[in-house]
Parts: sequence; structure tokens; C-alpha cells
Amino acid sequence: MNINQPGSSGSVLNEGEAPAAALDDAVVRARVDALLAQMTVEEKAGQITQYFDFLTSQDEAKRVEAEVAAGRAGSLLFVTDPEDINRLQRIAVEQTRLGIPLLFGFDIIHGFHTVMPVPIAMAASWDPELVEQGQAVAAAEARAIGLHWAFAPMVDIARDPRWGRLIESAGEDPYLGAAMAAAQVRGFQGGYIGSPDRVIAGPKHFAGYGAALGGRDYDEVNLSDSELWNVYLPPFKAAIDAGAGNVMTAYMGLNGIPATGNRWLLTTVLRDMLGFDGFVVTDAGAAADLTTHGVAADLTEAGVRALQAGVDMEMAPPFGQSAYRRLPEALADGRITMAELDASVRRVLAAKIRMGLFEQPYVDIARARAVLSDPKHRTVARRAAERSAVLLRNDDNLLPLDAKALRSVAVIGPFADATRDSSGPWIFAQDDQETVTVLAGIKAALGDQVQVAYSPGVSVPARQFRSIFESPEHKQAPRIEVDDEAEIARAAELARGAEVAILVLGEAQIMIGENASRSSLDLPGRQQQLLDAVLATGTPTVVLLMSARPLDLKGSAPQAQMTIWYPGTQGGTAIANLLFGHVSPGGKLPFNWPRNIGQLPLPYARLKSHQPHKAEQRYWNEPNSPLYPFGFGLSYSSFAFDGLSFDRAEIAPGEALQVSVEVCNTGKCTADEVVQLYIHQRYGSAARPVRELKGFQRVTLEPGERRTVQFTLGPQQLRYWNAAARDWVQDESPFDVFVGSDSTAPLTASFAVRRAAPEV
Ligand code: BGC
Repeated sequence: MNINQPGSSGSVLNEGEAPAAALDDAVVRARVDALLAQMTVEEKAGQITQYFDFLTSQDEAKRVEAEVAAGRAGSLLFVTDPEDINRLQRIAVEQTRLGIPLLFGFDIIHGFHTVMPVPIAMAASWDPELVEQGQAVAAAEARAIGLHWAFAPMVDIARDPRWGRLIESAGEDPYLGAAMAAAQVRGFQGGYIGSPDRVIAGPKHFAGYGAALGGRDYDEVNLSDSELWNVYLPPFKAAIDAGAGNVMTAYMGLNGIPATGNRWLLTTVLRDMLGFDGFVVTDAGAAADLTTHGVAADLTEAGVRALQAGVDMEMAPPFGQSAYRRLPEALADGRITMAELDASVRRVLAAKIRMGLFEQPYVDIARARAVLSDPKHRTVARRAAERSAVLLRNDDNLLPLDAKALRSVAVIGPFADATRDSSGPWIFAQDDQETVTVLAGIKAALGDQVQVAYSPGVSVPARQFRSIFESPEHKQAPRIEVDDEAEIARAAELARGAEVAILVLGEAQIMIGENASRSSLDLPGRQQQLLDAVLATGTPTVVLLMSARPLDLKGSAPQAQMTIWYPGTQGGTAIANLLFGHVSPGGKLPFNWPRNIGQLPLPYARLKSHQPHKAEQRYWNEPNSPLYPFGFGLSYSSFAFDGLSFDRAEIAPGEALQVSVEVCNTGKCTADEVVQLYIHQRYGSAARPVRELKGFQRVTLEPGERRTVQFTLGPQQLRYWNAAARDWVQDESPFDVFVGSDSTAPLTASFAVRRAAPEV
């Protein structure tokens, strides 16, 4: 059978068709075999090599195009124009010997054209359905322009906000992280690989990348067995169980062995223990990096080690040399076998077949334009920004502001009208014209009758060291530069003359994300001085933090403070809806917010130890409790919890029990609460955290409305990885359960796990 011809078998697609259901395994295998039998060794090595195609760099683009034309490239990344994609695809399909289409991958992290709030924000919504919808929108836009594969979700647990990639994560908790990981995979991929308008999901970075020493991106990671299995792997497991078709490796070494050359990690753990059956790609240049780590003498050895560890595809370093290009040489020398090479080629070909690329390699550009401008996408982005904001303070119910009574507002700060920053990092294909800034959102909401004064307040400082994203390959945004002294004075004047001051402070998008670790949690530049000058006027002040890090306001106390993250292209409209009470905030922190950077890392799920009654007094100079706990977030309403009960007082290991709790909206407006359930195992064969999240539900309640919320606690929630047994165990023990609106919830009850007494 010629696999490029539409076949007569019902499972083979006709030209122009997207698979209506997952393709049958046997059909995929037969098509892969037929192709593989015709491929040369060079074509095989090329098929498992992915190149950056920075079209802004002519020489590099020419080099990459030559590889494609020679049938020596299986995949490209960083091409985002559908015309370029069609052109390059035509070279692969029409000009190469076997006509194997290219797989186009890209960092579709939180939207493509329509920008959703950043991933940490989406996690703060505690709303997996919304998260799934957001990534479905991103997938539809990306697929329409010809992309097939998202290098996302990033499911790394992040417990140190000095690490900039915290922004791409779901925060510090494995349970929340797993829920968000699975939701994102469902959003990207749909029901099966090859679903119409969807892309392959690639959870990353396997594994442990978020635990970089000192929060320094790319630095080494040393994780105990218990942390790896109980904290860092659960989101990967959830993404794999949700069907993720790809996994990306990590840059750093895990316990001394570089992740990308680590056979135990990529084969024993990933494939044998977690059951992953898709294809593995390196992080950019991470195979070649095996020489940097000092575990490979040269590029050829690096390629051999990566392949034998279980890496299928190399994301070759931009402007550099590919390690997988050397695989034919390694094969000739007997350092790898044809079977090893074929195993990886098979997985990549299978992904292309499942995606329907042989039948539909090109995209319809007119349709792509229509998809990118679909107004429904903007509605999802706006809702997401509304649902992810976290209200941290609201003294004397300053918020919501009454738009009808208001006469004057001062909107101040370098991020109040910052179009590019509002979208956050990892955004390359947005239309800044479409972005509604906070200032624009407020003006649109208030209309002409209210006086809205604006000042950027202070300059945005430059980074001391350039980011990898500050290069000609990436679009740059102008940085605000003003005379700080004069502008602070002017801003204070505007605040003095207004009924309310709204400050938008934070970090520029270039200060957070990859290659953006930071040794401080202070407001960058002179923003603290600006904040204090505005507070000194006595005008009621709302601080909106555009940031992913828990920034330290040094004890300054604005009446209201809300974290708006980087809210995306519809952010301004959403923020105005929140400020003026059209919706109530319902987002919750996905991390503990420290008082002081010296406390890091500060996970809420800590273990008990010596002198537990003094657990909050580990430092002599200040409490080591967080400023705001994990799961915290205020609402314009208030909620009460009671009636915590179980359907049984005792269960045997392996059994499940039902938990019920009543939640009531005791306030005056319709609002959302996230009902959170935490457990604590009192004793067993290992120390267990004081509290661990094991269930949550976001509910919307009218004033006075009560709802019974139910959770199931079974072996999945009650077992843990025991480092001594090197296995999952479920101990017999009493368990305390806590339910409420954050990780310090006081409502508690307990049940026991006990083996039934043996019959005599
Ligand atoms: C990042 C990955 C990303 C890749 C391609 C790397 O530097 O670590 O997360 O997917 O670049 O852009």
C-alpha cells in the first residue's frame, strides 16, 4: 500500500479529512511500517530532528529549508504564519522523495492570537473546565494556522517564586497541578490525537525542573524520592492519563544525572511506571547540552545517550549543531542499533498519521483568519481573566467601586496602560491592537461622565542581563521611561485630586518566565516609592498587581489589593468588571505568599517536626507563617461552612468514603467560593504533611443559597509514595479532614482507615 495515497480501507483517511475518531492502532502500525521500509538512515535521523525556523534570520532559514528539502527534518518550530507553514509543508510533501509532511510545533502556552491569562492565573481560577476551554481556544487558533503540537502544558511544580517559570506552572501543589495538567491536555487534544481543531499536547519538563537550586533557571535539581513521586510527578501522571501525545525533557540534571540523558527517568519512570506511549522530545538543545553537563564527550555521543535514554526527537539548538544529525555515523560505528533508531522514528510517524497530516498537510488561510478573529474566543479570555483574579485585601469593602457614584479616578502605574505586558511572556502572535489594558477597560466602563486621570508613575527598569527573548527573533515592546521624581510627584497630585486611586504595579513580562529568575521579590524600579507617595495622599487606593510572583509591598497597606496576574488581551475589560462589581472575584492563590523572601521555599504542605507548637516560630525575628495562605482569596460576598460529615466513620485500605459539607453564601451578592478539602494522616510508616489538598469545587451561590458539596476520598487520595518501601503505600491511620475557603480552614472532622479484624 502506498501510504500517501488515500486508501480503500475504511480506517484510512481521504484527502482533506480530519480523523473523526482515533485511528485504529493496527492501521497506524501498518502505515508506519510501510513508510519505515522505504527510509534511508539519513531520512530516519532527519525525521526525528526538529529545527527552529527563525524566518527573521535569512541564513538560518535557508539552512533549515535545505534540510527540509533533503528530507532531513521531521519537524519545525517557531513558524507562525500560515503562508510560511504552507510553503514549507509543500517542500516536504511535494519535493522530497517520500513526501512525509512536517509536524509544526510551537510554544502555545496561554493562547495563540487571543491571549488568555498566564497559566498560573488559570490555575488560580481553580476551575478546570475553564482551563480546558482556554486551551481548546488556543488549540483551535493554532491548528487553523497550521500548527500541530503545543509545547504545553508546563506541569512543573513551582515552590520557589524566584524561579520565573512559576508563571507557566499551576503553582506549588501536586493535586491542583494534576487537575490543571489534565484539563489542559483535554483542552489541547480533545478526545483523541487528531481531533479536529486540536493539537498534540506536550507536558514538560520531565522532570523536576521547577526545583532549581535557588530558583535559578536551568540550575541543578536534587529531589528526594518522596518529593519526586509525591509532589513533582503527579501532574505528569495526570497529563499522561489524560492522553498526552508528547512529553518534553528538562534542561537540568536531576540528582546529578541530566534529565535528557537519563534512561531511568525517561524509560523506567516515564514509560514503564507512568505508562507514557507517545513521543519524547528534548528541550531546545538539551541533547547537545549533554556535552555541557559533562556526560558526553562530543555531539555524537550526546545523540547516542539521548536516544538510548528514551528521547525520540531532538529539538536541535537554534543556529547550532544537531546531535541527532550524527546518528547515522553512530549507527555505522555500531554505537546504536537500527532497532533503537526505528523505535523513535515509528513514534514520530505515528503522531503524524494520527494527526491526519498525510491527508491534510495544508491549511486554508481564509478560514484561519476567521478562526483567529472569532469573538467567542475573546469571551473565553475575558471570563478567564475575571475568574482568575485573586482579591487579597479589601478594607472597609472599598471594592467594588460604585461606578454610578464615582466622579473621578486616578489610574497610575507603569503597567496600567502596558499593552504588551498585559499579555505576559510566551506570546508571539498576538495583535496588541486588540489588547484592552486596565486603563482602557476602566475608561470604557466609566464613560465620559467620570474623570479618569492617568500617569505611568515611574519608569520600568531594564534587566541587568538580557533575556533570550530580547533578540531580533522576538517582537519587542517599548519600555516606559519617564523622569521618575517628577512623575511620582505628578501621580501623587492626580491621586490627591481623585476620589479613588487605582495603581497597577508589578513586573514587566520580560522579568518573568524563562531565563527570568530574580533574587528579590520587591517591586522593580521605584514603584514602591510611587506606591508610598500615593498612599500618603490619603486617597483610598486599590493596588492591582500585574505579576506572577508574590511581590513584597514592604508592609504598605493599600485599602484593597488584587492580583490580576498577566490577564491577557481581554484583561482590561475583565478587571473593570471586577472593580465595578459586575462580577465578584473568586480566584484563590495557588501558592503560599511569603512575608519575606528569606522564607523560601515555604510550601503549605510541610511535615511536622520537633516542637510542633512552635512551628510558626522557626525564625526568631518574625513568624514563618505566610502573609496569605495557599488557597486564599476574598470575595465581595462571604461564605460559611458547616455539616462536615462522612458516609462511614471507618474504611479499609482500598475502599472509598464520601465526604459532605454545606456551604452557604452569607453575603449580599451572587459570588463564587472554592470549597477546598485537605487531609492529614495522623501517623503511619512515613511523616505526612500537616495538610494536603485532596479535593476542590468552585461553586456559584446566590445570596442566602446553601449547597451540599460532596467529595470522594479513596486509595488514590489516601496513598502516598513511601521512600523506604520505594512503592505506593496506604497506611492504617486516623485521618483529619479540613474543609473551607483556604488551606487554614478550621472546620474539621476525622475518619479512620483500618483493616478489618481477621475472622476467627
Ligand atoms: C524552553 C521550552 C520551550 C522551548 C522552545 C526552551 O528554552 O525551556 O519550554 O518549549 O524552549 O521554545
